[in-house]
Amino acid sequence: MDGQPLKVAVLGCGVVGSQVVRLLDEQAGDLAARVGRPVQLAGVAVRRIDAPRDVLLPEGLLTTDAAALVARDDVDLVVEVIGGIEPARTLILSALEHGKSVVTANKALLAEDGPTLFEAAEKAGRDLYYEAAVAGAIPILRPLRESLAGDRVTRVLGIVNGTTNFILDKMDTQGSGFTEALEEAQDLGYAEADPTADVEGFDAAAKAAILASLAFHTRVTASDVHREGISEVSAADIASAKDMGCVVKLLAICELRTTEGTDGGAEEAVAVRVHPAMIPRSHPLASVREAYNAVFVESEAAGQLMFYGPGAGGAPTASAVMGDLVTVARNLVSGTRGAGESAYTDRAVLPMGETRTRYHVAIDVDDRAGVLAAVALAFAEHGVSIQTVRQEGRDDDAQLVVVSHGATDAQLSATVEHLRGMDTVRDVTSVMRVEGADE
Ligand code: HSE
Repeated sequence: MDGQPLKVAVLGCGVVGSQVVRLLDEQAGDLAARVGRPVQLAGVAVRRIDAPRDVLLPEGLLTTDAAALVARDDVDLVVEVIGGIEPARTLILSALEHGKSVVTANKALLAEDGPTLFEAAEKAGRDLYYEAAVAGAIPILRPLRESLAGDRVTRVLGIVNGTTNFILDKMDTQGSGFTEALEEAQDLGYAEADPTADVEGFDAAAKAAILASLAFHTRVTASDVHREGISEVSAADIASAKDMGCVVKLLAICELRTTEGTDGGAEEAVAVRVHPAMIPRSHPLASVREAYNAVFVESEAAGQLMFYGPGAGGAPTASAVMGDLVTVARNLVSGTRGAGESAYTDRAVLPMGETRTRYHVAIDVDDRAGVLAAVALAFAEHGVSIQTVRQEGRDDDAQLVVVSHGATDAQLSATVEHLRGMDTVRDVTSVMRVEGADE
């Protein structure tokens, strides 16, 4: 292949970085043909030179001086797979200032401070690509950014965290409790020793912010995302979901909503949330098992689309990084850039209380005349319409399972508070939002 090689600096040589380095070497011939020039590794920045790693590196390529590597004149492209906020942010900004194009897998940084990075890329006239930041190998950011750029996306529902999907799947299929399923996930290497980021929904919330920003052409950061994890999901919730023909999933939900603007006219806003929810077993996302990820997109012209695959792991995530690397390298060869940030709609993010959703509520009540009517009245008092009620009599009490129509989250949580305070209600045993079915 003619032409000077394009030189790549890789920051980080862990699970993903080592696979990127491997693929750069093993696929060198194909990469050169696809890009139009050879693509060569210039250096790999690591914290410790002598740490054990999964890939053999030619001597002299490892360095602990990442700042010097990203500023080197002979480096054209920088791949950041260190993760976390710092030093990743400083290194990416420096790489862009020095005229390098950047590929990153850093969801936390993009969700917290994406606009700073996008503005730096714009100023430098360079690319910033990040397909690997959401749902590992699954191509989802490019479809949102490019393939659907002429359509109007109205909703994105994602299972974007493999660890929590694995845990909920085990609770559903094996009847495991949360703690037992978490231990199994840890034994298999899905969950980390400190599982907080996955289990409490922080990882999914960062991904939801990135998805919503791209889908709705606006800026959404992780702090805009309402977040609830799965540690409170009980065996009773799973059983109640089963009874209803549903399954419990941790969903990242990004929606376009029409609200009343300050001038009284209709205004579009976005609602972005991560929480466990019941979805019908007939919904395509219900079939996503084990640690797999999937993103379900609804748009006006295309209708419903689903993107499915491995959402984590070294080689799958490296596949997404390499795809970006080829695109960015081709752009450098042809002297062009890909599309930058598209945030022209500047839509407001709705508070969770104003978000419309549906609730499933299981209630243990006294089994006597008037109790069902009193429960129905509690829903009515908060303006919540009931879709279905199921009652099962037991000895001297009964279980009521109520599923509401769509209402605001504030109306629904006020209803549950009200129920908890009623004399005839012995216990509210399960409260969960219901998604993926008509309101
Ligand atoms: N820990 C994540 C998961 C993968 O369980 O899906 C990286 O985002």
